[in-house]
Amino acid sequence: MMDFGGYPIAATAAAESWDQLHWFLIGVCVFFSLVVFVPMVVFAIKYRARPGHKPTYISHNNALEIFWTAVPTVILMVIFAWGWIVYKELVINAPPNAMEVKVMARSWGWTFQYEDGRTTNDLLFVPVNKPVRLVMTAAEGDVIHSFFVPNFRLKKDVVPGIYNTTWFEARIPGRHQFFCTEYCGAGHSIMIGAVVVLEEEDWQLWRWGKAIDMPDWVGIGGKRERMLTASQGREAAFQVQTAHLDQKSLIDRGQELHRRQGCVACHSSDGTMGIGPSFLGIFGEEVELSDGRILVRDENYIRGQIENPRAQIVRGFEHAVMPPYPGRLSELDLNALIAYIKSLQGSTTAQRMTEE
Ligand code: CUA
Repeated sequence: MMDFGGYPIAATAAAESWDQLHWFLIGVCVFFSLVVFVPMVVFAIKYRARPGHKPTYISHNNALEIFWTAVPTVILMVIFAWGWIVYKELVINAPPNAMEVKVMARSWGWTFQYEDGRTTNDLLFVPVNKPVRLVMTAAEGDVIHSFFVPNFRLKKDVVPGIYNTTWFEARIPGRHQFFCTEYCGAGHSIMIGAVVVLEEEDWQLWRWGKAIDMPDWVGIGGKRERMLTASQGREAAFQVQTAHLDQKSLIDRGQELHRRQGCVACHSSDGTMGIGPSFLGIFGEEVELSDGRILVRDENYIRGQIENPRAQIVRGFEHAVMPPYPGRLSELDLNALIAYIKSLQGSTTAQRMTEE
């Protein structure tokens, strides 16, 4: 790929697609700037007002006007289609087997919560060459942040109260810097961290709570690297060593919440219909509401149902006796409960997955 220096390394395949589109856009802009400005200068000199030179009157030229409308239209359609393809690759098309990490932003730091129940601050540990899906939100009552990993060309707003999702598959091991890229207050500039992409052996060590050497920064050198290492290096090493495994997995924690918070009284986990719908096999499935709307039961749907159950009443459950739970569960608990509901794959889902 073209490298004009100062550009971040493209550490994912999607980043490379992004770069190709980017350079195409730059190319189109440069080309048409020349097409417009070079003749403009030439004509300004050639046809300038001077004694003995009489201008001809030209009103229009149909062929020329159709040509310069049609060609840009085609180019814009190409940009639209190409942009859509890259956007899908970059944001939407997370492989179904992707490892999932929950991201929580707050003023001014980041918490990452893994499937095994562990959490880390400001450092996101992932294996190399494995797809990772991020489910991101900001702390209750916090402001909007934005997660930006330049080496991955990945940028997504992190908003309190809803989940935004994105994904990546890093192909270069090492520490890739990320930023908060939405001005969020006095501590915005310290809201930085790193995606730590580990080789398979290191990833296994980290998963089992063993110490690993922090890999080097990728694509950062000189003064900035020393600054970052000074601010993060010690904390990073510390976190790697103390990564402990005594937590419950996300799913187990969710199961416990399901029982302890009393959800189980109305929502079974085995398909038995209670006062409310069973949780079995609902995740990712469509549901019809009493007002006729069809929604997909994804992370945002479940969160909405917990915080304001009367806003979206499922057909057949119009009695709507569930009290709203806004703020009753911490963000990390909500993640666990959603992970638990997601884990309850019913027969309908299993069937559909084998058919595909
Ligand atoms: Cu968070 Cu800027």
